Amino acid sequence: TRLQMFVDELPDMPKIQGFEVVNGIPKSKSLNIGMYMKKWKFHRDLPRSTVYAYGATQSTATVPGPTIEALHGISTFITWQNNIPSNKHILPWDPTIPTAVPSTKKGIPTVVHLHGGIHEPASDGNANSWFTEGFQDRGPTWSNKTYQYRNQQQPGNLWYHDHTMGLTRVNLLAGLLGAYIIRHLDVEGPLGLPHSEFDRSLVIFDRAFRTDGSIYMNSTGNNPSIHPQWQPEYFGDAIIVNGKAWPKLTVRRRKYRFRIINASNARFFRFFFTNGMGFTHVGSDSAYLGKPVGSKGFLLGPSEITDVVVDFSESETDHVILANDAAYPYPSGDPVNEENSKVIKFLILGHPEVDTSRIPERLIHYPAPDLSSASQTRYIAMYEYTSDIGEPTHLYLNAKPYEAPATETPKAGTTEVWNVINLTEDNHPLHIHLGLFVVLDQTDLVKVEEFKDCMSKENNAIKCQISKYARGNRTEVPAQEKGWKNVFKMRPGAVTKILVRFAYIHSNASYQFDPSGEPGYVYHCHILDHEDNAMMRPLKIIR
Ligand code: C2O
Ligand code: CU
Repeated sequence: TRLQMFVDELPDMPKIQGFEVVNGIPKSKSLNIGMYMKKWKFHRDLPRSTVYAYGATQSTATVPGPTIEALHGISTFITWQNNIPSNKHILPWDPTIPTAVPSTKKGIPTVVHLHGGIHEPASDGNANSWFTEGFQDRGPTWSNKTYQYRNQQQPGNLWYHDHTMGLTRVNLLAGLLGAYIIRHLDVEGPLGLPHSEFDRSLVIFDRAFRTDGSIYMNSTGNNPSIHPQWQPEYFGDAIIVNGKAWPKLTVRRRKYRFRIINASNARFFRFFFTNGMGFTHVGSDSAYLGKPVGSKGFLLGPSEITDVVVDFSESETDHVILANDAAYPYPSGDPVNEENSKVIKFLILGHPEVDTSRIPERLIHYPAPDLSSASQTRYIAMYEYTSDIGEPTHLYLNAKPYEAPATETPKAGTTEVWNVINLTEDNHPLHIHLGLFVVLDQTDLVKVEEFKDCMSKENNAIKCQISKYARGNRTEVPAQEKGWKNVFKMRPGAVTKILVRFAYIHSNASYQFDPSGEPGYVYHCHILDHEDNAMMRPLKIIR
């Protein structure tokens, strides 16, 4: 039996302030945020599901976790505490991929990464810096209990989520993710965008459930003799927004701001409104755009964020559904069905009302990328390996496992050109820690098979004469994605050229911390099932 859509109200997650105000002056704050095992109700008619959830306490823990609101320039210190009992993991995991092993004696490994954050490596949540309940067991690069988030970067949208070696896909599926906003009131206030109750985060992911309410994940791998559990992509038919399956929200006939995070393991969404209404994009990933950009729909890969204003006074109907038509896996998998093509329903009240919020002509301008300042050009190739039965066994970047010594070693504060060559059939959202980048262009390869053959022998784009092959169609970067990003969708059979800056701090271009320390950063595909096996590489910043 199918769950009925649009019966639960869209929740607003609890807010936690990442600063305190003493005599009118904002000061940094130390928070304790725990991870708890608890029950969560994803739908009116579905029994409660066992989840792992972030929260200040067990009773206030939610899926997604609380929204952390930080202030630009004021550090937030967080001690992440693992309170998950040392039982079996609630989801199947695979011992044959490089993984932190959940043990019934020492607990469930977890570690938190603030996605889009610019901070030192010791606060970055390295995959090997995991820890279990009460810090009983710790990963090889674990060094400190408290993380410092400096919040010196531009205002915008980030999110925090688990990043444990080999368990990221299951720990997020279990519920370990949440939104994090950096605000800069002096700069954002004058923009006049919708605020307070008209400014909402929408954290969206797909899940599958058994009839008893438990989260369903296939426990048999696609290559069971090689990897007993690992599957190349997780998909579920229920679309969850802020912890409820296909919720509804009653809105007024005015403008709203929605900060939309795709927190799925592997699902891409191409969002559009069923009544043809449009979106005005004001930000992309963690940064504002220079100018607002209108669209009728947009593609959001796993972990991408878009920040849009929607004006319900333009609606000619009294309700509208936010829908999705992206195939899964993207772009050449199954077409959407009745369930996973619907996201949330808005019920639009009454008549247009006085709305003092506005969309300004200019937002926040950051210096344009300067290609001539690039100090290095690198080639990053994406490979998929298959078994005798033609099923994927693992994925690599530059044909190297995660454990191979770092080969990407940018100098702190510099800018580099990365050419990302996707030799697989799927689109992979590439995410780079610490770095922010601008997408320069995306060009299809011609004679792909010939180039692939060479790359499988040489793994060297220059030797394989990439310039001879990167001559196909150019795909235009969507206007709303021309700003600074931290994730971008790498088109199959194409070279995507990006200009990355390590790192970009708006108010002060120089570092106020040392990014060259241990254990370094990482870059990876943000399809979590790929990242875990093992489409992730170390990123070592040097001085
Ligand atoms: Cu959103 Cu390395 O992660
Ligand atoms: Cu991938």
